[in-house]
Amino acid sequence: MLNVGNAVLNGKYLLSLQKKHNMSTKSHLIAPSVLAADFAKLYDDIIMVNNSEADWFHIDIMDGVFVPNISFGFPVMQAIAKHATKPLDVHLMIVDPDRYLQVCKDSGAEIITVHYEACTHLHRTLAAIKELGCKAGVALNPHTPVALLKDVLADLDLVCLMSVNPGFGGQKFISNTYAKVQELRAMAKGINDGLLIEIDGGVTTANAAQLLKAGADVLVAGSFVFNAAAPLDTIKSLKDIDINIENI
Ligand code: DX5
Ligand code: ZN
Repeated sequence: MLNVGNAVLNGKYLLSLQKKHNMSTKSHLIAPSVLAADFAKLYDDIIMVNNSEADWFHIDIMDGVFVPNISFGFPVMQAIAKHATKPLDVHLMIVDPDRYLQVCKDSGAEIITVHYEACTHLHRTLAAIKELGCKAGVALNPHTPVALLKDVLADLDLVCLMSVNPGFGGQKFISNTYAKVQELRAMAKGINDGLLIEIDGGVTTANAAQLLKAGADVLVAGSFVFNAAAPLDTIKSLKDIDINIENI
């Protein structure tokens, strides 16, 4: 991978700068979810993302326990990391994620996101992620209130708001996510202004502008990108959204 640490940091710096100066434009990040790729031609799909305007690879690891599905594990992630030229944003949908943080990092993770609902000692888990040199994220299921993050807000690099119940791609977007983004952005103000808010599930150009306007920074998109006739154009259409000129 190429200089991915800087890419993340620069992205974050850019976002904070743009927000500070009330600048607009392409400040948000796009993270195609590899879960929706064609696993029989995974290499081609990785190269497509490398060549696109996407910012990160979103990697969904599932254990069949925390979520009712199993995706792929760390050997596959290592294969992806070998060819990816953009940071790997890893979404761990597994119980007791502490057991896998080291291997996750060693498999190429730049950002590691664990589920609030899967961590008994979340503060300790976040510290362990940072100790590995990774960015630390927490994901919230649709039923989990953002208010529960109050006491760890300052420790977070990213919050992933699930806009579907985790486990599967291609589900319908849950619209109370807009309100959750707004609430979280307001909560973070003055405490963690660099916090990245990521939206995961059912993201398309039909909801992306409203999510960005509500305060989202990172849009994960699986089926919308990989099932598209022209994935490069689809990624560009998400990246090109400008909330300052969008009439929503
Ligand atoms: C769901 C995963 C998502 C999924 C999104 O559990 O966390 O990242 O791949 O897929 P779409 O964009 O198809 O809803
Ligand atoms: Zn995900």
